[in-house]
Amino acid sequence: MSNILLVGTHWGDEGKGKIVDVLSENATGCVRFQGGHNAGHTLVINDIKTILHLIPSGILRDNVQSIIGNGVVISLEALEKELNDLKAKDIKITNKLFISELCHVILPTHQALDIARERKLGKSSIGTTGRGIGPCYEDKVARRGIRLCNFFSSDQLEEKLEKSMEYHNFLLTEYYNAKPVSISDTIKSLSKIFNQVRQHICDIVPLVLELNKKSNIIFEGAQGIMLDIDHGTYPYVTSSNTSIAGLISGTGIGIDKVNYSLGITKAYTTRVGHGPFPSELHDEIGANLAKWGGEVGATTGRNRRCGWLDTKILKTSVQLNSINGIALTKLDVLDNLEKIKICTNYSEIDDISFKVDNIEYIELDGWKSSTKGATNLSDLPKNARKYIETIEEISDTPIVMISTGAARDEIICLKDIFT
Ligand code: GDP
Ligand code: IMO
Ligand code: MG
Repeated sequence: MSNILLVGTHWGDEGKGKIVDVLSENATGCVRFQGGHNAGHTLVINDIKTILHLIPSGILRDNVQSIIGNGVVISLEALEKELNDLKAKDIKITNKLFISELCHVILPTHQALDIARERKLGKSSIGTTGRGIGPCYEDKVARRGIRLCNFFSSDQLEEKLEKSMEYHNFLLTEYYNAKPVSISDTIKSLSKIFNQVRQHICDIVPLVLELNKKSNIIFEGAQGIMLDIDHGTYPYVTSSNTSIAGLISGTGIGIDKVNYSLGITKAYTTRVGHGPFPSELHDEIGANLAKWGGEVGATTGRNRRCGWLDTKILKTSVQLNSINGIALTKLDVLDNLEKIKICTNYSEIDDISFKVDNIEYIELDGWKSSTKGATNLSDLPKNARKYIETIEEISDTPIVMISTGAARDEIICLKDIFT
């Protein structure tokens, strides 16, 4: 069967959740492979908005099994909250959610460390989501992390948690001048949540392979390539591989199982958090893009910074992720613009000032009419089609889907990418 990898081509929030939801109509499994509840993936169906952080965006479909791979870091508290929110919406979870026993667990001390570090960094802070993502991945790599499988043995768990949290508390109190976290309370509260979710925890690899015999799988990336720990705007990045590399290590599924790599690209570029953003707009146009695009973070509620589409990054993304096609989202947000620019090149980004020299743009005429809700390419104004073709030419990659609104049915599908 045919499988699709779906990755963000910029700094996240490209509209991955919506595209996963659209594609999962024809899938049997949807797999997250990296990141954690720093992600916020928005789905709008029949005017009802659902924001998912940890749970794969296929969960709203009855035909889809939602799977969380070992590369994802799990906050049990966040998982419990998200499951409760879904249950309150009458969304079926039983026998539909499977979580790798090898996932590392985000502890309350990871979150406290994340916040304390950001505070200490002051002006040079990363602007993290404050969810403990970085410290949890650090412990994973340092070989002292706690995994979900450790929760099956309570003696082993207590010993491991004590050792780990004593170290974290030492850092918190002695280095960061912050409050320690109660170890006994943590053991109690996390064990309680674990017991509520333990039926979801398993070895996910045989399951994915079995599902794949029946039908298509969607591998759902979180964040975007410029937040990748290796290839992003380091150190203003997240702590996982947001690229195709993260899929292989974060699931245990081989590269031969990826039949199509789909890049999700917003029609303009946004970033939430600190760090360089060469095509950022500090003028009225930037403010309008934020307003028209509703550019407020789905996880932290922070305002997203907005700018022109950066195709230098898009080209890097295509290369790094072996992208076969692009889903262009939020085209409708550009409807009112007189002129639209596309950023094509700049010199190296200065590490300190984040400035770039020789920034190059091309300028196109806007279309000044509504594309909202369009479902056919022929419904789009000539200048909108010109914009799309220009992006295809620059990136040397076909645009196979165009999203024209937040809702599930506001989409133009130009190719059946499962075949
Ligand atoms: P993700 O993290 O990549 O899944 O993206 P987010 O959900 O964080 O942010 C995308 C935002 O844009 C959400 O509020 C979506 O509902 C919304 N959205 C997605 N596609 C479109 C579109 O084509 N047009 C408009 N206007 N909004 C969209
Ligand atoms: P989705 O999946 C946008 C950003 C944070 C910060 C940096 C590091 O919704 O696209 P972290 O908490 O991960 O250590 O923060 O990464 N960031 C995101 N920005 N969308 C996301 O996810 C993000 N997840 C993390 O704002 O700049
Ligand atoms: Mg998001």
